[in-house]
This record gives sequence, structure tokens and C-alpha cells, in this order.
Amino acid sequence: MREFSGILRGGGEALSKALLIFLVFVLRCGLSKVLDLPPENLIKSISAVPVSKKRRVADFQLSIASVTEDSSSDCLAPGLHLQAQKLAERLKCDAVVSEISAGPGTVNFTINRELLAKTVLQQVLKDGSEYGVKSELFSTVPKQKAVIEFSSPNIAKKFHIGHLRSTIVGNFIANLKVALGHEVIRMNYLGDWGMQFGLLGVGFQLFGNKEKLKTSPLQHLFEVYVQINKAAEDENTKKLAKDFFRKLEEHDEQTLSLWKQFRDFSIDEYIRIYKRLGVHFDEYSGESFYQEKSKEVLKMLENKGLLQKTIKGTGIVDLSEKKDLSSFSTVMRSDGTSLYITRQVSPSVFIAIYFASKSQSNHFQHLFQILKLMGYDWVERCQHVSFGLVQGMKTRRGEVIFLEDVLNEVRSRMLQNMASAKTTKEIEDPMETAEKVGLAALIIQDFQGLLSSDYQFSWDRALQSRGDTGVFLQYTHARLHSLEQMHGNEQLTHINVACLQEPDAISVLQHLLRYDEVLYRSSQDLQPKHIVSYLLTLSHLAAVAHKTLPVKGSTPELAQARLCLFQAARSVLANGMKLLGAVCNVKV
Ligand code: ARG
Repeated sequence: MREFSGILRGGGEALSKALLIFLVFVLRCGLSKVLDLPPENLIKSISAVPVSKKRRVADFQLSIASVTEDSSSDCLAPGLHLQAQKLAERLKCDAVVSEISAGPGTVNFTINRELLAKTVLQQVLKDGSEYGVKSELFSTVPKQKAVIEFSSPNIAKKFHIGHLRSTIVGNFIANLKVALGHEVIRMNYLGDWGMQFGLLGVGFQLFGNKEKLKTSPLQHLFEVYVQINKAAEDENTKKLAKDFFRKLEEHDEQTLSLWKQFRDFSIDEYIRIYKRLGVHFDEYSGESFYQEKSKEVLKMLENKGLLQKTIKGTGIVDLSEKKDLSSFSTVMRSDGTSLYITRQVSPSVFIAIYFASKSQSNHFQHLFQILKLMGYDWVERCQHVSFGLVQGMKTRRGEVIFLEDVLNEVRSRMLQNMASAKTTKEIEDPMETAEKVGLAALIIQDFQGLLSSDYQFSWDRALQSRGDTGVFLQYTHARLHSLEQMHGNEQLTHINVACLQEPDAISVLQHLLRYDEVLYRSSQDLQPKHIVSYLLTLSHLAAVAHKTLPVKGSTPELAQARLCLFQAARSVLANGMKLLGAVCNVKV
């Protein structure tokens, strides 16, 4: 590893300019040598010291408990205190770290604050939308090509909240991976095959309307599907549906052509609605895509001796360790047609991340097991990112059926809030603003916790303008943006960093410095919550600084320096929100 920090080499030694890329990185690297831990392991152990009213004790703090083996132990244990003291004695100040002291279970660092202001502001403004992603933290992460599968609704069925979660989470991970230089294929794996198309086909012949199919395919197909499901109680309709699906699997031309219309019109409408969400896909694949291969897959399973027939004639694969059928997966119906899982056993996927609810965990577990049994080692690189249930999302129209319902609802609720807050008048396009702010609100509410946890959906909580919401992020961004508009937003290069030494300015700078860490954490565990809580803190810090560090009425030198600070905060806020898929409500 490069020799990074003077804290190891003794006091006073000046660090070369090149090494001042990130102060925290310097700190991490220096400490990582002393502690013999990789720098990324220290991300969680170093925290910013909050400003106390009177004075700031230090800028950053290393928690000894979290880097030593007895991480579960009480931080005030005498052993930890001693270790902190010993470590503090071994570390030496340098041009970056101006003070080192031991606290109860912590080592505290005060850093050269002028250097902090200079380095952070220069870097943020220079790198723009690439700030943070160029960090050394990512230098050892190999670049990959990843297929990211998300959203994946089922034609003619409800677009439930699970699909919305999958859409926004998948989009976020795709954005993050692209920002970090990976090659990404965004894939929508539609539920566009299966027995329900047998029913839908028969239903369309009975209740369908070609005009409605063209103008509002999602709604019309859903209605037809509901109708035919009621009618399908009788055996005759069931038989017709079965025949229709069999013909589809045999690629009967007429049957296929009707199915293709269902699919094509639905995709057109999806593209339009995803656009409102700011989401796009590189590929609309789906169960139909692999069904052609399912015959081949069954043959392969048979050749490898993995396919077994039950007395009823269905095809199964034994997944149990003892080969006693205590766990198995059904891959073929008795009439030879394919199932959900069969249409996915494709030998052509190399690395994939699937975003689907935890109710599908079993499915993916079975899928990966089958692929492994077939000898595809790349399955090790496949991952199912599962998420919890969202309870209680209802619109004024009632239960959520279509994605568009959710988008319309959040927009109208937001418009109403804006009207009662009397902010609509100054806004050029209130509809568009309401949509973007509302969308950010949905995303932030959804991304705040661990993805695997269930949560209770609440329009009111999501749309609050204060507190930890997407609305608050959007408002902070808008406020910082209008500050720039009012005072000029040219690139500020020559500012006097000595003007940025107030505690509230330092807090913002400290926080800006650590953006790369949350990008790193989210890229490792695929959880958006790190970035969300980072942006919320950034907004709170910027809002405080906005109050205590006025631009208006300050001397030109001070005003310039403060503007530069706010510009940097706004830029990082916008970058982070963009990654999350919460597009800012002002174009800059
Ligand atoms: N269409 C499925 C559903 O709505 C989700 C698909 C998940 N992805 C997959 N490769 N099976 O439940």
C-alpha cells in the first residue's frame, strides 16, 4: 500500500499535495496500517464528532470497540480505554491531523480545518457529478458486467407495491453501478407466459375489445382477466384455457399473434409510465423469452439424470442432499408444459442480481440449486436481493392496481400540500414539481430502513415537509439552488478558506468529505439506506448553516466562501438524490 500518512512517520512531516485527496482516506489508511486492518473496515469505526454548543472536542473519532475483537463489549470497559490511550500515544500528528487525544474507548482526531475546507471544496467542485465515485476506496473493486433484473410485473395482473419496490431499488443499484464504472444491463423480466395467458386468451375472445387494448392495454387486460377468472369456475372454460396455453407453447400462429399484441401494447404503456418514474430498461425480456428453451432445458436435465417423473406424470428435480426427495422443485406439468421456474433455467446468464420480494426467496433458492446441479458455476455470481412487505398502501380510488395510480396519487397529494402551504404560486410548473417531490418522498420512505424489513406505508409521513423525508431533501436542494440564483452561481475558485471556520461550516465540510464512504457501503451491501441517511444529515447540516451563516449582508470575501460551501453541499445532495432515482425538482 502507498505510504499515506504522516501520522505513522512522526510529527510535522509535510504530506505531499497528491496525498491530500481525501483527508479521511489518509486517516483510514494510516490507521489501517497501525491496526493491521483494510481501510474499508474502518469506515464504520470512524465517526464525525458532533459539534457541542461550546466547542468542538475533535473532528473525527475512532471507536476502539468496533475495531478490536471484543467489539460487543462496553465501550467504557477499562481495557478499551487503555487500548485507546496506547493507540493515541503511538500516533503522531502531521500536516493533516493537528491533534490526537484519547477519550473513553475512542481516539479523537482534530484535523487541519483550512486544509479540510480547501480540499473538500476543490474536489467537490472539480469532480461535479463524479465526486466520491473516483475515491481510492473503489480502486480494488474489479469492474463487472452485471445484468440487473428489476420491476418485472405480470401482464394482466396487478402492479403491486412489491413491483414498485423492485423498480425503485433495482433502478438505484443500476444507477450506482453505472456511476462506479460497471457495465449494466437493465432487464425487465415480464410475467408474459404461463397458464394465465391461456385464460386471458379465452377471456379476450369472450370479453375483449381491440380498441381498448390499444388505448389502455394494462387496464383492459386486467379487466378481462378478472372477468374470465370468475367465468373459469366451470370446467369447460378451464379446458379452453388449457388448450389455448398449449397452443401457445406449440407456437400456433394465430394464438401467438394475439399474445404478441397483449405483450407489445403492454410494454408500450409500461415504457410511458416508467418514464414518469425516471426509469428505463435496456431489455424487456420475460418468461416467454426462455420458454422456447424450456424444452431444451428439460432435455438437459434428463440427460444429466436430474429429471424424475412422478406417478402423476409431472417432472421434478430432487434438490435434497440425501436424495430422498425431502426437497424438490417441479419443472414440468404432466402435459409437458413449462412452469415459472423452468422458464428461468437458462444457461446463458453470467452474473445477475434479481430484485424481487422475499416471498420469492424459495423460488430463487431452487433456481440456483438446479443451475448448480447442472454444473453452471457462474450461479455463484447470481444474487437474489429480497425485500420486505409494504403494508397499507391505498389510494383514494382504493386498492393499488396500476403503477400509474400510485404516481397520480402522490402527485395530487403533493399538489394539495403545496397549495395549502401557498408555495404553488411561485412555481413555474406545479404539476411537474409535485410529481418529482412526491416521487422523492416515496423513494426516501421506502429506502430508509433495511430492504429486508417490512414497513407500514403512510402518505402523511412520506409527504411531510420537515423531518426525514424526500420532501425535505427536495426543499433543501431548492433553497440552496435559489441562493445560488440570487447571488450568482459562477464557479467559485479563489475563496478564502479561513472564512469557513465556524462550527456549522466545518460540520458540513466534514460530512461532505465522507460521501465516498456511503457510496462504498451501499455498493457493498446493496442497501440504499446509507446514502439516504447521509443525504438527510447533509440537508439538516446545510439547513442549519443556511441560517447561521448568511450570505446576504456579509463582506464579499465571506459571502463568496459561504456560497461556495452551499454550492458544494447542493452538488453532493443532487448527486446522491440522482443515484437514488429522486430527480431534483430544479434543473441545473
Ligand atoms: N413476475 C414476477 C412476479 O411478479 C417477478 C419476477 C422475478 N424475477 C424472476 N426472475 N423470477 O412475482
